[in-house]
Amino acid sequence: MTAVLKVTGLHVTFDTAAGVVHANNGVSLEAHEGESLGIMGESGCGKTVLCLSLLHLQHPGRIVKGSILLDGRDITRLGETEMERLRGRVITLVPQNQATALNPAYTVRQQLEEALKVRRHGGALHRLARNRHGSEQVSDVQEFKRVFEDLGFESGPVFDRLLRSYPHQLSGGMRQRVLIAMALLMRPRLLIADEPTTALDRAIKAQSLATLQRVRGALTLLVISHDVEAISATCDRVAVMYGGRVIESGPCDKVLSHPRHPYSRLLLAAQRRTRGQPLVAAAAETLNLIDFPEGCAFHPVCPEVTPMCATLAPPESKIDGTMVACHLYHEEAG
Ligand SMILES: Nc1ncnc2c1ncn2[C@@H]1O[C@H](COP(=O)(O)OP(=O)(O)OP(=O)(O)O)[C@@H](O)[C@H]1O
Ligand SMILES: [Mg+2]
Repeated sequence: MTAVLKVTGLHVTFDTAAGVVHANNGVSLEAHEGESLGIMGESGCGKTVLCLSLLHLQHPGRIVKGSILLDGRDITRLGETEMERLRGRVITLVPQNQATALNPAYTVRQQLEEALKVRRHGGALHRLARNRHGSEQVSDVQEFKRVFEDLGFESGPVFDRLLRSYPHQLSGGMRQRVLIAMALLMRPRLLIADEPTTALDRAIKAQSLATLQRVRGALTLLVISHDVEAISATCDRVAVMYGGRVIESGPCDKVLSHPRHPYSRLLLAAQRRTRGQPLVAAAAETLNLIDFPEGCAFHPVCPEVTPMCATLAPPESKIDGTMVACHLYHEEAG
């Protein structure tokens, strides 16, 4: 079966005054039809750069190596015109910062209409928004209602008020629902939610997770998060990133309950620590993405480091239906 998304050995760099920042260092992952894949890792490990790169929006970063296949088609080096056709309609990103992702000058209804226009006529959201004077007004409130009902929001006077609202009048959770509704209206092959629960309080976070759970299975989903709770609530499989690379991946029930890579173990222990237990620093902040270490990126702080780790980047080994890139493990025979 062809994967909806297959990323192989993706390297993305930023040229800065201080030197070249290696934000993605050989990311490989696959997401299959209808699957929900979580991408987990601490701040700075390259999650957002990865999802922006899938849309060629990583500017000023450069994709220097590797490939991105969408339904088997190589989109790594597509030009801007072709990428514009894919953005929104084929791959839709619900960005990390939902507060600024909606257009402050348009009502919710107008923004939903723009999403329908993109699906029906193509083009990019921002471009349509600029050219809307005198253009065709597509109104399909019935479809908006259906999508919001799918997301667990009943139609009625509250819904009518929502359609008339401007983004600043909405809560963070509601803005995010609007963004996900816009994404669903475009019926993409792949929906990416970057940090869907960041900056939301507990009640709204639960709402946001419930929204994603409703979407789960209906389309292929990438959920980017540093939060194990968000990943386990919404994903079938998880890929753990460290230093711009996937260091462990597999079904959520296996990886989250029995992480193998020393970094995954520290990360999960840090997140699941209970009162009275010391905080285990997972050490992502100590990694220098400019003067990138040789061998395994985690070796300078790994509690289980071996001499080989300092010189040789660990290959991906398949073990019990999971992948782990660590010299402590060796691929199972057969
Ligand atoms: N425009 C840029 N110029 C230089 N470095 C950048 C730029 N954008 C991102 N980076 C660097 O790339 C690395 C990965 O950043 P990225 O935003 O992907 O992290 P992240 O995993 O999404 O973190 P977070 O959880 O905080 O959102 C970081 O070290 C970041 O500083
Ligand atoms: Mg990010």
